Amino acid sequence: MLRTHTCGELRQTHSGQTVTLAGWVETVRDHSGVLFFNLRDRYGLTQITFLQEKNPALAETVRTLHPEDVVQITGNVQPRPEGIVNRKIPTGEIEIDADSLTVLNRTAVVPFQPSAPEIPAEETRLKYRYLDLRRPAMQKTLLLRHRITKVMRDYFDELGFAEIETPMLGKSTPEGARDYLVPSRIAPGQFYALPQSPQLYKQILMIAGYDRYFQIARCFRDEDLRADRQPEFTQMDLEMSFAEMEDIIGIISGLMVRLMKDVLGRELPLPIPRISYDEAMERFGHDAPDLRFGMELIDLTDIAKTVDFRVFRSAADTGGRVRAINVKGAAEKYSRKDIDGLNAWVIDQFGAKGIAWLKADADGRLAGPMAKNFTDEQLASIAGRLGAEPNDFLLFSADTFAVTCKVLNGLRRRLAAELKLIDPKEMNFCWVVRFPMFDWDADGQRWIAMHHPFTAPLESDLPLIDSDPAAIRAQAYDLVLNGFEAGGGTMRIHDSGVQAKVFGLLGLSAETAKEQFGFLLDALQFGAPPHGGIALGLDRLVMLFGGLDNIRDCIAFPKTAKASDLMTGAPGTVATKQLEELAIKVNPKTP
Ligand code: AMO
Ligand code: AMP
Repeated sequence: MLRTHTCGELRQTHSGQTVTLAGWVETVRDHSGVLFFNLRDRYGLTQITFLQEKNPALAETVRTLHPEDVVQITGNVQPRPEGIVNRKIPTGEIEIDADSLTVLNRTAVVPFQPSAPEIPAEETRLKYRYLDLRRPAMQKTLLLRHRITKVMRDYFDELGFAEIETPMLGKSTPEGARDYLVPSRIAPGQFYALPQSPQLYKQILMIAGYDRYFQIARCFRDEDLRADRQPEFTQMDLEMSFAEMEDIIGIISGLMVRLMKDVLGRELPLPIPRISYDEAMERFGHDAPDLRFGMELIDLTDIAKTVDFRVFRSAADTGGRVRAINVKGAAEKYSRKDIDGLNAWVIDQFGAKGIAWLKADADGRLAGPMAKNFTDEQLASIAGRLGAEPNDFLLFSADTFAVTCKVLNGLRRRLAAELKLIDPKEMNFCWVVRFPMFDWDADGQRWIAMHHPFTAPLESDLPLIDSDPAAIRAQAYDLVLNGFEAGGGTMRIHDSGVQAKVFGLLGLSAETAKEQFGFLLDALQFGAPPHGGIALGLDRLVMLFGGLDNIRDCIAFPKTAKASDLMTGAPGTVATKQLEELAIKVNPKTP
């Protein structure tokens, strides 16, 4: 090794030793004949000093150094005098009195210094990712990620799970997003799909008798990106045979206890609370509810049916809902202008027609431009239902159930952040259960699977499959952490007849089902055990365990919102010859 110690290792107990360190130079400072800089590697920082008097030639070389040059130094470990001990860093009790320095590599002028406190624009960070990844915060996150996957692997190994790889080049599995396709050279005009998840392979592994499978698996989904979504992401994927929903919930709850303890040093009391899908939508307007604060949604549809206010009446009378949140004590914090901003935001983001609002004055009376539409009694019953107290700020959405969910969930999260109602250290877990099996697709034309088409219905709801599909609940469960869906899973259909029936309901003809999933329908006929599983979003878990707010910071080489890699320039064009080999002709007119 070109070093005897790392830059994070030396303490007062090493005083007097001659050591050699290697790493990256931070800014060189010159204090009248004493030159010094911090030398950095991924383990930490060590202060190096050079005395002009002792070695003038060496001091001259040090003066030529630039931040991020790579050097090796040899010198003597010295305790720092009491006054200049740096308690902020673990090596702050010592410094190295250097006798020699070798420049291992000079850097070009860096576009930003990884040691600087200010964080550069994300585009710059992604373009020069190698410099960005030198930032201690990024190193901390990637090491946290390593720790989390290591704990997962140990935990599942102890429980008898085997990690088995599944193909990247395969057949598309319908997870609901668009596939990334890979053209075949050997079969021109044919394509592989990169997996959206290992879903079907892991089910086949159960049929093959592997009993307890897991995999840290890369997944690919060509969908619109957000702060918590990447086109290429990682799942901790799991499947079990001869197990029931409670077993899977138990194993994953145990994993969370273990991760909390081993990664954050914190206790997670069991059981993790559960909430049904219906209750989550009713109380929070979202199937991944953020339970770290109150501000629950309250229904006023019955009151709305009795008032003259057009906005409320038309929603209430046409099968919609009028619901509200009470933002406690916030009346004075939101000006007319702020409220106009919220109004424009819900229209733009959630397709709402607007929001209505009232404020409770110092006496608790509700006031605001819309108050004139109500009698005093009506205002009193609204205040009563919402528990309005002086200075409360009430926001109302009148629309279809779905739109009121989106609007009030959006406002609830936004206002909680603005009003700092969330303790950033809290880790709030819940399981969401009893999901509907089917949902109407966006244009209301056909049934779609709420999770995926391999999900088993609740045994007791199975008879409804012909009469009332909307009422069928699935054996599905999502793990929610701090308002994010950290994972989702289901028990699977293990009967080819039920599977064929579900395909039928989803509008797949017997032929299409056979063509797309024939291998699964076949396999289900050869002794399929009852089975189920789950997948956790690893990038999201790292984000949440690291207290971060986007998953790009949890991935070494992430993609931008436009799905490009700014460092390598992917995606890019390819040579005509490559296209010819693949029998592909690019139409430059299609975007
Ligand atoms: P699902 O589609 O719910 O289930 O995915 C499981 C978890 O993966 C994470 N996730 C993502 N993370 C980052 N970027 C994305 N684009 C992205 N999409 C999903 C989420 C999510 O909860 N095969 C099933 C699992 C099963 O039934 O066992 C599946 O993939 O945290
Ligand atoms: P209008 O009577 O259309 O002027 O609306 C009165 C107030 O109700 C305005 O502040 C609108 O933003 C708001 N509003 C309009 N439509 C809705 C709706 N569907 N739900 C809640 N508030 C609404």
